[in-house]
Formats: sequence, structure tokens, C-alpha cells
Amino acid sequence: MIEIENLKKSFGTKDVLKGVNLTIKDGETMVIIGRSGCGKSVMLKHIVGLLHPDAGTVKVGGLVINDLKQKALYQVRKQFGFLFQGAALFDSMTVEENVALPLFEAEVRPPKNEIDAVVAEKLDLVGLPGTQKLKPAELSGGMRKRVGLARALVTNPQYILYDEPTTGLDPIMSDSIDNLIHDVKEKVKATAIVVTHDMFSVKNVADRVAMMHEGKVYFIGTPNEVLKSKDEIIFEFIKRTETL
Ligand SMILES: Nc1ncnc2c1ncn2[C@@H]1O[C@H](COP(=O)(O)OP(=O)(O)OP(=O)(O)O)[C@@H](O)[C@H]1O
Ligand SMILES: [Mg+2]
Repeated sequence: MIEIENLKKSFGTKDVLKGVNLTIKDGETMVIIGRSGCGKSVMLKHIVGLLHPDAGTVKVGGLVINDLKQKALYQVRKQFGFLFQGAALFDSMTVEENVALPLFEAEVRPPKNEIDAVVAEKLDLVGLPGTQKLKPAELSGGMRKRVGLARALVTNPQYILYDEPTTGLDPIMSDSIDNLIHDVKEKVKATAIVVTHDMFSVKNVADRVAMMHEGKVYFIGTPNEVLKSKDEIIFEFIKRTETL
């Protein structure tokens, strides 16, 4: 379980998170929506300890992670896979090196044949078999996202954070990424948080949806409750998103 309590974060004079409360249950897929710049990515970064809150806490499996020392934080991070917004691949590295990166961060690096096997398995899973030796520059946007996804899954994480997994992809590629997110949930029973602007993704992958607005969680409900909401702020947001 991930529990976010009264999370606050400002950058300079800009108050981004103003007291976010959100609980993600084990095994559920929580989709986060909200306008550009409302703090979705900032919130995700707090969950893995990449950002430190001004106030409030994040608990992972009951453990407050915000004051942990580097080593203890590392133990927590091992349970996470993170698909960063824009995939964030290293251009100088091959696909296999990019995917294997989280394995190199382990205290004890697995032997090469094990790394090769798990990289091959994850590339198969995301529909990119045999691409190990390619460089990111040789890939399409959709392929880069899928490599980012393979990297997020390489440690078989219990918690997976997806930041805009389908943004910039065509509808067919978006569907296939949604299906992957869904399959991963079914197969490994992972707990997932998916940030998206894509209302199709909301319908396809969410157990519950949280909408952020003005630095807080404004609404939590099922996909149907959100998509059918008559609340002015939610309705406006969805209407605009659908015309993108
Ligand atoms: N490291 C940082 N330093 C200063 N400001 C930051 C930093 N990270 C984020 N911000 C600011 O915090 C606000 C929220 O950013 P965030 O990236 O979380 O938005 P978002 O909801 O993910 O938007 P989008 O949908 O466009 O990805 C923005 O105004 C951004 O400029
Ligand atoms: Mg973002």
C-alpha cells in the first residue's frame, strides 16, 4: 500500500502540492489526471524519494520513506519500477544497456547471462524482441516508450509508476501500451500508478481515478464516476482532454 498524507511541496514561491492525500491499495491501478503543471510528476517523484516534501509523508508498505538514509531508501526503490515522462533513455547506451540499468544499481550485480536473459524476456514482453543492440536514436517514439517500460519492469517490481505512458503515441500504439499495463497488472499483481491525459487509458486501465486540482486531490472515483461527472471542474477538464 502507498499512503500519501498531507504532502506539500513548493518551488521558490510556487506552491505546487498543497496537501495531497491519496492511498493506493495493493494490487490496484490508480490513474492520476489533472491539468498540465498541476504537480502529477512532482507527486510521483516524492513516492520514490527523488524529491523531498516540505511537509507531509509518503508511506510505502507502512514505512515512512521521506527521512530514510540513502541505503534504506535504495531498499525501498528496489520495489519500484518507474517509466519516466518522455521515456528518458540514455542516447549513448544501447537498448539492452538502458533496460538493464536498474540491475546495475543492485549491491550485487547479477551475472551477465542472467542479465541478458531478463533483458530478453522484458523486450519480448513489450513487443520488441531482438532490439538489444539498437541505439535509442534508431527507435520510433512508441518503441522508445516500450523500451522505457521494459526498463521499468526489469526488476519485477511490486509497485510501478507510469508517467504519461501513451502521450504522443498514435491510438493503436496507445492501445497496445494500455494492454501491456493491464497484462502486467494481471501477471505480476503489481500495484500501479498511471499519470495520463488520455481518457481511453483511463477507461482501459484504471481501477480508480484521482483528479488533481490546485495542489490537492480534488476527486477520487471509478472511471465511470469521473467520466460521467457533472462537476464543472471535472467536466471541463475531460471535455478539453477529449478534443486534444
Ligand atoms: N525541480 C523543479 N524545480 C522547480 N520547479 C519545478 C520542478 N519540478 C517541477 N516544477 C514545477 O512544478 C509544477 C508541477 O510540475 P509537474 O511536472 O509535476 O507537472 P505535471 O502535472 O506533471 O504536468 P504535465 O502534465 O505537463 O507533465 C510546474 O510548475 C513545474 O514547473
Ligand atoms: Mg508530468
